[in-house]
Formats: sequence, C-alpha cells, structure tokens
Amino acid sequence: MALLDVRNLSIDILTAQGKIRVIDKATLNIVDGSIHGLVGESGSGKSLIAKAILGVHNENWIVTADRMFLGNIDLLKLSSKERRKVMGKEIAIIFQNPRSYLDPSKKIFDQMREVLPEGKSKIHFLNKIVSKSTHKQIIKELLHKVGVQNDQEVVRNYPHELSEGICQKVMIAMAIANNPRLLIADEPTTSMEAVTQAQIFRLLYKLNQLHNTTILLLSNNFGSISNLSDYISLIYCGQTVESGSYKQVLNSPMHPYTQAMIKTILNYDENLDHKSQLYTLPGSIPPANQLPIGCRLGPRCPKAQRTCVTNPTAVNYKGHVIRCHFPTLDEK
Ligand SMILES: Nc1ncnc2c1ncn2[C@@H]1O[C@H](COP(=O)(O)OP(=O)(O)OP(=O)(O)O)[C@@H](O)[C@H]1O
Ligand code: SF4
Ligand SMILES: [Mg+2]
Repeated sequence: MALLDVRNLSIDILTAQGKIRVIDKATLNIVDGSIHGLVGESGSGKSLIAKAILGVHNENWIVTADRMFLGNIDLLKLSSKERRKVMGKEIAIIFQNPRSYLDPSKKIFDQMREVLPEGKSKIHFLNKIVSKSTHKQIIKELLHKVGVQNDQEVVRNYPHELSEGICQKVMIAMAIANNPRLLIADEPTTSMEAVTQAQIFRLLYKLNQLHNTTILLLSNNFGSISNLSDYISLIYCGQTVESGSYKQVLNSPMHPYTQAMIKTILNYDENLDHKSQLYTLPGSIPPANQLPIGCRLGPRCPKAQRTCVTNPTAVNYKGHVIRCHFPTLDEK
C-alpha cells in the first residue's frame, strides 16, 4: 500500500527571467514500510520535491499536482495550517550538514527537549503514556535508539563540540521523536567520511527494519544508496525518468539515464586497463533557465531521436515505470 502517492507534481518558479518549470510532472509512489531511494545528479530537483511534499515553499513557487495523498489524507485539500499540523506529526526530515540545522547556542538536551511531544499532564511516546518528569529518560531512549551510547555526555554538549556523525544521529533522534510515518533523509551523509556514512546508513536501515519507519532517501550517489533501497526512482532535471523495485531497476534498467547511472557504479571485480577512463554521461546538467524542451536528457542521451523534443509520457510495466520514447524493452 502506498504511504505517499504523488502524481504529476510540477513546480514553476517565478524568476526575473520569467517562469521556470523546475519540476516537471514528477511522480513518486512510496510503499508503506519501505526504503525508497530518489537518485539524481546535483541540481536535478530532489530537495525541491521534498519541500513540495512538506508544503514548505516560497511565495514565488507555483506547485501543482494531480494527486498528493499521505495515506488517506489528501494533502492538496488541506489549508496551510492543517497541512503544517499533519506534516509536523506525520513527516520528519533530516538534511546534509546537520550542524548547520542545530542551534549553535543551545545544548543538545535543550534542543531535544523542544521537539518532544507536548501534553498538559501526559506525554505519549512510542505508544506509552509517560509523564513530563521523564524527559531525561525519553531523550536517553531516543539517543540509544540511534546508536549514541554516551548519551549523558552528548546531551551536555553544544553542537560544535560534537562530530558531524554524532550531530546527524542527534538530528535523526529528534526527527523520530514524534514517531513520524515518513522520514525524508535529504543527502544525510554528504561530506561525511566513509565510516560515518556507513554508520548513518546502517542506522536508517535499522529504523526501517525494527520500527517500520518508511524512509525516502535522496541522494546524488546511485552506488551508495541503491543497496539500501527497496524501491528506486531516478530523476533528471526535474523529470522522474524511471522507477521500480530494486530488482527491476538494477537488473533490467530501461531508461538511458538509469543505464548510464548504473555504469558509473564502480565494479571492483572488473578488469580495467591501467589508466582507462571510467564511464560518464557526456555533458552536464543544464542550468534551470536553459532546460531543453521535451525530454530533458535529449542533448546528453545516446538514444535521442527527433521525437524526443516532445515530452514522453510515463508508461507502467507491472510497477516498473518509464518515461522515455525508446526504452530498452528486451527483458520484458
Ligand atoms: N528557490 C529557488 N529559486 C530558483 N531556483 C531554484 C530554487 N531552489 C532550487 N532551484 C533550482 O532548482 C533546481 C533543483 O534544485 P534542488 O536543490 O532541488 O536540486 P537537488 O537535486 O536537491 O541537488 P543537490 O543534490 O545538489 O542537493 C536547481 O537547478 C536549482 O538551481
Ligand atoms: S525520450 Fe529520447 S532523449 Fe529522452 S531518454 Fe528516451 S531516447 Fe533519450
Ligand atoms: Mg538537494
């Protein structure tokens, strides 16, 4: 069952150069209890989609969609006040550079205390009713849940006194304090060293497996998140191009962009000649004000033909959704 069902989401941004369609009919179907990877190069629109789902956007954005349901809640029908209420309770987000999202002037305990659920005389936490006097206990439990064992020391610190990895774990602990149904992780490990990255990914996996938290994982690194994801969607220049289960996307990619992304994952078993070039898609992602018409991959696509100047519509092959005029269909 879909926890989040977003169909044909478009975002137009009003700029000095006119209206720019930064997200063009993006579709996301996130299965309840799954980890869903949304992968695309830097500037492809992953964070914009996350913001549109959360309903946090600037006045100069025009956000439209055919459908945006969280469970059975129609998000498009809610007023912004109702939307904020639903979002605060049901969806949480963590970002890259966790230190910049924590308040540098407050100790971790005070920051965590602020996000705990409020109640007049009772506080609900993990389906238990606890009193206000046990905040310390809740914070301890939350930190243990995200793998921070030295909680007493951590809560006494300011963010700058902690490592990036611990700060991200604190952010995750704060994000899950209200038992959100969906956790959006927006490049949660960018600029972290490899060991810390692995720890954060393991933690997200554990949250999903043990607590059934649905996770939308945004990344520009296909290799690092693909193994963690039950489902994968690829996005290029604001257009979702292919999505399906891990097996569908990895074993039989049908879109030229996905095929190129898969080729960029390093295969250490492969016998590469000394100093041989690694695969990359020619060209680079165009700026938002110079987007090609029709399929936006066109200028970089090895299979592009004249038809590609018209926008391809999404076709669904048993849950494997492709948006391309010339998909690779041999495996189907
Ligand atoms: N507020 C804004 N006004 C105008 N353009 C914007 C705004 N925010 C983002 N963009 C443009 O929209 C495009 C998508 O941006 P977005 O930040 O969503 O990409 P991303 O996939 O999250 O990239 P990254 O991997 O670097 O985080 C970019 O071209 C960006 O320049
Ligand atoms: S629609 Fe055309 S340009 Fe776009 S990915 Fe398919 S073949 Fe390439
Ligand atoms: Mg981003």
